[in-house]
Amino acid sequence: MCGAQHSLDAGEAGNCLPVFMRGNVVFDIHSHIIYQIDDGAKSQEESLHLIRSAVSQGAEGIFATPHYYPEAPSDPEEIRKKLDILRERCSREELRVALYEGNEVLYFESMIERLRSGEILTLAGSHYTLIEFYPMESYQVILRAVRKLRLAGYRPVIAHAERFKGLREHGLSEVIRMGGYIQVSTEPLSKSGFSAMMDEETGFVRDAIRKGQVHFLGTDMHREDRRPPVLAKAIRWIETHAPEQSVDLFRGNVEKLIQDKEIV
Ligand SMILES: [Fe+2]
Repeated sequence: MCGAQHSLDAGEAGNCLPVFMRGNVVFDIHSHIIYQIDDGAKSQEESLHLIRSAVSQGAEGIFATPHYYPEAPSDPEEIRKKLDILRERCSREELRVALYEGNEVLYFESMIERLRSGEILTLAGSHYTLIEFYPMESYQVILRAVRKLRLAGYRPVIAHAERFKGLREHGLSEVIRMGGYIQVSTEPLSKSGFSAMMDEETGFVRDAIRKGQVHFLGTDMHREDRRPPVLAKAIRWIETHAPEQSVDLFRGNVEKLIQDKEIV
């Protein structure tokens, strides 16, 4: 069960909690844990190191979302094959975590055809698809992308929403109203003091969580020495500063995603 995709009734998930964990656990829906496929983990060992680190900090499920660029597409069969190897390794060392497939797609106009053909992997085989943009992409392009994907029957999740100037300037209300979902990075939540105060992205992420505009969390972990997973401090920040039940809400959203149900 653990180490494979699974349904999420409370008892089952409870059985999957690492014995050393206390407190809240979360799902990480954005990571680059698959080795030698993009700019993420360089080896199988590094993949395992990243997974172990995330689990020790409170991850009960991780979505592997290798980059998908139209001019440099990832191979869905390679993703699935390597994910199975990682599941097997996790299971062998009794690492209690569920791993799910996906892609992080740099949005492009014809991505819908590649979603339909299966070249691009949705999140856990659902209709939810993780998309990103260039940091300076216009707000109108982001709105159009959300509209287009919704009309095609997909549920776009905007990866690390804090990075996009258009969203920082215009806010998230309209994107959400149009049927878009928001994933923010956990790393900004770990900052404190002056560095947190001075960081625009940190302010944006915290404000969005306080307003209830965030649906999913993601570490966007890449490598041990470059963007390692930052989760424990983020969970602590949410427990202390976010509206009550926020962690449960994030968990409930992932549950709906895995069941391919609409989050309302
Ligand atoms: Fe990413």
